[in-house]
Amino acid sequence: MQSRGTRTKARRRRAVRAGRLCRPITRKTVPQRYPGNMKVIDLRSDTVTLPTAAMREAIMAAEVGDDVYGEDPTVNRLQERAAELLGKEATLLFPSGTMANQAALHTLTRPGDVVLASRDCHILKYESGAASALSGVQIKTIGADGIFDAADVRENLHPDEQHFAPTTVVAVENTHNMAGGRVFPADLLEGVAETARAAGLRLHLDGARLFNAAVATETDPARIAEPFDTVSVCLSKGLGAPVGSLVGTSLERAHELRRIRKRFGGGMRQAGFLAAAGLHALEHHVERLAEDHANARLLAEGMERIGLAVVGKPETNMVVFEFQDTMAFVSATRERQLLINPIGPGRFRAVTHLDVSASDVEETLERLRAVLEEIPC
Ligand SMILES: Cc1ncc(COP(=O)(O)O)c(C=O)c1O
Repeated sequence: MQSRGTRTKARRRRAVRAGRLCRPITRKTVPQRYPGNMKVIDLRSDTVTLPTAAMREAIMAAEVGDDVYGEDPTVNRLQERAAELLGKEATLLFPSGTMANQAALHTLTRPGDVVLASRDCHILKYESGAASALSGVQIKTIGADGIFDAADVRENLHPDEQHFAPTTVVAVENTHNMAGGRVFPADLLEGVAETARAAGLRLHLDGARLFNAAVATETDPARIAEPFDTVSVCLSKGLGAPVGSLVGTSLERAHELRRIRKRFGGGMRQAGFLAAAGLHALEHHVERLAEDHANARLLAEGMERIGLAVVGKPETNMVVFEFQDTMAFVSATRERQLLINPIGPGRFRAVTHLDVSASDVEETLERLRAVLEEIPC
């Protein structure tokens, strides 16, 4: 008779094999055909960064209180600083970008409404069906490659007639994750916002990587955020904080948003430890996003040189490329301690971030060259 512990371990192993449970990336799970001391280069996402020593110190030194009572001084400082940067009356701290987006959408819509958004947008594809489950709204995708224009909005507006669900919100994702970190062009955004306003629609910005867009285009983040009723930004992506997103909005909407955040389970207590990391990130990790962008360009150019099919030119910190045999590529790169996620059959996304240096990019190219020698594309 097996012990309970052994049965639990066997159940866990079966769940990992069936893909229902994630297996952590460790020396044990990455095959060891190559030297054990080979550095793992993790290009799966900019969410994998670890807090720097200075950020850890800021976390340790944080002054905290109960944020549900509004008494955490560090959260309050972060929210004020972020409001300034985004040019909004108020911001609220959330535990995740998903909750930030969905709480914002909840305040902008009523059940049955239609939200117009880009193809492959995060709020539809990667937030676990939250928009329909939590707000009862439908998301209709428009445009292509992460962007759309005023005509797309106009053509997809439902008439104000009893058969049709009311179209009430336009949501923009900037930069666009699945379009490879693409920046939403400013002139298109202007036309979209004007058309949306004229039709009485509200506007939401999924700005998980808004600071990447701002740095890449040398634009004030407040200028990009200006037309939107609600703007979410993530501290836990390129900015390198462990947890946290913010929604910027008007004072009036922030009051409602606070209630929705509580309802969705996002009221946090001594969240100042997270806010301290966020403040540190806003102070020290925004300008340096330019290094990630330069590294992405370096990586894309190198990939092209060794014969990989890069899709478009990286505008920020992501490189999308193609390799037909998805599984063979994943296993050959993992064997070489190189982690890159597929984002579709034969399509991959490599993301540069705080923990990837220019020399890591050179090393990545060396390992990719070896992969291509083993399995030519
Ligand atoms: C564009 C975009 N929006 C929202 C999110 C959600 O953020 P989180 O993972 O913190 O829920 C992500 C996450 O990758 C994202 O890429």
